[in-house]
Amino acid sequence: MNYNKKTVYDADVKGKKVLLRCDFNVPQDKKTGEITSDKRIVAALPTIKYLLEQGAAVIACSHLGKPVATFEGYVKKQVEKGKNEADITREEWEKSLKKLTLAPVAKRLSELLGMDVIFAADTIGPDAQAKAAALQPGQLLLLENLRFAKGETKNDPAFAKALADMAEVFVSDAFGTVHRAHASTAGVAAYLPAYSGLLVNKELAVMGKALDDPKRPFVAVLGGAKVSDKINVINNLLEKADTIIIGGGMAY
Ligand code: 3PG
Repeated sequence: MNYNKKTVYDADVKGKKVLLRCDFNVPQDKKTGEITSDKRIVAALPTIKYLLEQGAAVIACSHLGKPVATFEGYVKKQVEKGKNEADITREEWEKSLKKLTLAPVAKRLSELLGMDVIFAADTIGPDAQAKAAALQPGQLLLLENLRFAKGETKNDPAFAKALADMAEVFVSDAFGTVHRAHASTAGVAAYLPAYSGLLVNKELAVMGKALDDPKRPFVAVLGGAKVSDKINVINNLLEKADTIIIGGGMAY
């Protein structure tokens, strides 16, 4: 496949701060919060290691789940789900946010990399700013869940700029999330030189080849739960695949 984007191999990152968008949206045990599959964390390691080896100071960031960033928004969503407004408390909202902290991901990353991972308790707040400013080449910082900030999913330019201001280079490696026009996936690219990471490169090379010039018979197998997101994918595949097999939650 002819890949005409700038990749991390084109970036000069030595001694620079790199904002790295990962997809650490990992599945967790509903009761204990334990990470039940670290596949997405493992998939991010090649780019993280490459950047650290090149002498970058890496500021990793990701979303986790679909937290509602404001109490008002939380109330609205719960009412839509049929809850009585008077029963919804701030405490319950705060608890819902706590469940989606990226702290367990920082711990797992640290185990997998065999190094300290500095964790910021906010995204663009004082903790993130101070830790990003003090970050040295070869060190890794993980910011708190991006969707705790209301500017993220709205692609708010002020939030994107504040994220970008912590770094000098942007690397996009959140393959499962690059289709979202959010501040950390799209917005930051207006303020920083942007490159794709190794996971995005790999996925595009594999999928690009399969879609552009497939060996036949070409069978596509799809699963997962987010059916609405995949209707376009199915429509696209209908023209290319000989057979499409749909399983998992989508089959229902
Ligand atoms: C995913 O799990 O599909 C990605 O992380 C994107 O998550 P989202 O659907 O919440 O944007």
